[in-house]
Amino acid sequence: MARTGNGIMTIQTRPETGQAPPPTKTILRALAGETRPVPPIWMMRQAGRYLPEYRATRAQAGDFLSLCYNSDLAAEVTLQPIRRYGFDAAILFADILLLPQALGMDLWFVTGEGPRLSTITDKASFAALGGKDDIHDTLAPVYETVRILSRELPGETTLIGFAGAPWTVATYMIAGRGTPDQGPAHALKSENRELFRALIDRLTDSTIEYLSRQIEAGAEVAKIFDSWAGSLTGADFQDFVVAPCRRITRALKQRYPGIPVTGFPREAGEKYAGFARQTGVDCVALDNSVDPVWAAKHVQVDGCVQGNLAASHMVTGGAALVKQTRAIVAALSGGPHIFNLGHGITPDADPDNVHLMIDTVRSGFRGWP
Ligand code: CP3
Repeated sequence: MARTGNGIMTIQTRPETGQAPPPTKTILRALAGETRPVPPIWMMRQAGRYLPEYRATRAQAGDFLSLCYNSDLAAEVTLQPIRRYGFDAAILFADILLLPQALGMDLWFVTGEGPRLSTITDKASFAALGGKDDIHDTLAPVYETVRILSRELPGETTLIGFAGAPWTVATYMIAGRGTPDQGPAHALKSENRELFRALIDRLTDSTIEYLSRQIEAGAEVAKIFDSWAGSLTGADFQDFVVAPCRRITRALKQRYPGIPVTGFPREAGEKYAGFARQTGVDCVALDNSVDPVWAAKHVQVDGCVQGNLAASHMVTGGAALVKQTRAIVAALSGGPHIFNLGHGITPDADPDNVHLMIDTVRSGFRGWP
C-alpha cells in the first residue's frame, strides 16, 4: 500500500512501543498538541467565488451542486487554493447540506440567495427520511473526491474532511433555508421535542457514517461545523451542541483512533471554555468574536485552537490586516495553534490580501508599521 492519504492502511507501529509514529505534517503536529514555531495555516471557504479559477470551474460544472457531485472538478477546486497559496491544509470541496439531500430531501441553491430545501415539520416528513446507512449512494462522488485528493495533494498538505453539526444542519432542514435567528428550529424544539430529538439523533448517526467514509477514503482530519451553535443556550447547548459533537467524536475515535477531530461551535462565546474537554475534540475553531488573549487562557489550555481573523480583513487588507494577524499569532503562540479566519472568506475578498495574511503569519511580514 503506497498511498499518501491518512495512513489507515499504512500506519507502521514501532516494535519497541507498539505506538504509531508521530505525525510529520504541520497541521497534524499542531492537532497532536505541538506548539509550532510558525502556526500552520489554511482558510475556511478557501476554494470559493473570490478566486477567478474557482468561478471558471464552477461555470464549467454548471452550478454549485453539480460541482459538489463532480469528483474531478470538486478535486480541482480543492487544489486551486493549494496551488495559489501553498496552504498547509486542503478542505474537501462539498457542502454541509449534501447530507440532508442524501437522506432524501430536495436541495437546490438560488443564485444570490442561498440554499433551499424541502422541510421537516411533522412526523410524516421525518418518517420519509432515509436511515443512517442509506446515504452512501448519493454521497459516493464525495468519497471519490477524497480519494482523488489523497492521491494528488502535495505530501506536506493535510486533507480535512467535514460535516455540518446536527443542530446547524437541522436548522436548514426545518426552515427549508437559512434563517437569521433559526426561529423555525427553535419553534419545533419547543413544540415537538420528541420529533426534534429524533431528527438530531438521525443526523448524529448519519454524520458518523458520512465522516467514517470520508476517513476511509483518505481524509486525515474531521471538522464539524456548528455555524449556529451560538443561538442555543443553557441545557439546549448541552443537549444539542455538546452531546451530538461528543457522540460523533467518540464514535470516530473508537473506529479511527489516530484521526483528529476539530469542533467549530461558532458564536458559542464563553461556552468555548471547556468545549474540548466536554466533547473530546482535539481542536476548537474560534470565530472572530472571541478575544484571542482570552482564548489562550480558557480554550488553548485544553489543546489546539484554530482561528480567528475576521474575514472582512480579506476585503479591506492593509495595515489593519497585518496588525490583527500579528496580534492573533502573538496571543496564541504559547500553545498549539492553526491560523485561520473566524468564518469563511467572502466572494468580495481580494485574493492579494490572502497573500498578505500568509506572509504575515509565515515571515512576520515587515512591510507595514
Ligand atoms: O471551506 C471550504 O472551502 C469547503 C467547502 C465548504 C462549502 N460550504 C462550500 C460552499 C464548506 C466546509 C461549507 C460549509 C457550509 N455550508 C456551512 C458551514 C460553515 C459556514 O459557512 O457557516 C454552511 C452553513 C453551509 C450552507 C451553505 N452553503 C450556505 C448557507 C451557502 C450559501 C451562502 C454562500 O456563501 O453562498 C452555501 C453555498 C456554498 N458552499 C458556496 C461554497 C463555495 C458558494 C456556492 C457558489 O459557488 O455559488
